[in-house]
Amino acid sequence: VSTLLEVRTPRLLLRPLWEIDRNEFLRVHALSAEFFRPWAPSPPEGESPEGRFRRALDEARRGAASGTHVSLVGLLDDGRIAGFFTLYGIFRGAFQSAYAGWGVSADQAGRGYGTEAVTGLLDLAFAPPDRGLGLHRVQANMIPSNAASRRLAAKVGFREEGLALRYLQIAGEWRDHVMYARTVEEHTFTYLDPGSASGG
Ligand SMILES: CC(C)(COP(=O)(O)OP(=O)(O)OC[C@H]1O[C@@H](n2cnc3c(N)ncnc32)[C@H](O)[C@@H]1OP(=O)(O)O)[C@@H](O)C(=O)NCCC(=O)NCCS
Repeated sequence: VSTLLEVRTPRLLLRPLWEIDRNEFLRVHALSAEFFRPWAPSPPEGESPEGRFRRALDEARRGAASGTHVSLVGLLDDGRIAGFFTLYGIFRGAFQSAYAGWGVSADQAGRGYGTEAVTGLLDLAFAPPDRGLGLHRVQANMIPSNAASRRLAAKVGFREEGLALRYLQIAGEWRDHVMYARTVEEHTFTYLDPGSASGG
């Protein structure tokens, strides 16, 4: 059974990153570089914007083929990308878990798009295989001083689980991260109806 990995929220369509997203991908990354830099790993030094898009597309394709990574864009009605939303490190077996990642374009931040999109992302992660990924647990880790990201995590229902020391290298430093998680038992569906193949 192939799963349609997309979800509509009131103002966004979340769907996988495609080749046609090149110009918007480049525009958003160019204008958001300073906005993302303190909080998320930077691209490899010397990588061109085009190279970065190719790498993202390749990662999205390989992840889709192996079932380990889902790279989504959040599209506004006018076709602009409002942000990037990812489920990565998808691990099956007795885990059935993934990590969530998010970034909203600097020109769209503070308008509730992050909250809306990650709510949809969690619906997709937890919905059963005809509508979503059927995962049991989604985790998200962030630098403790990232107030916007922590507020977003709390708003969409993640629980704080602890502090991971020297967890991720960001802007050249190994930074501690607060760990958040949500499991399917805690999840209430907002934008997807998990019982219907046509979605909510
Ligand atoms: C984190 C991020 C995705 C939030 O996206 P967003 O669309 O601006 O978030 P929302 O508008 O849905 O706001 C979510 C909450 O955070 C709050 N918030 C937003 N920006 C904030 C800021 N700079 N400081 C404190 N709180 C902030 C909002 O007020 C809202 O809470 P409220 O409803 O109680 O008022 C965005 O700021 C971003 O991309 N940051 C840079 C990259 C990043 O940090 N990625 C995550 C790495 S872990």
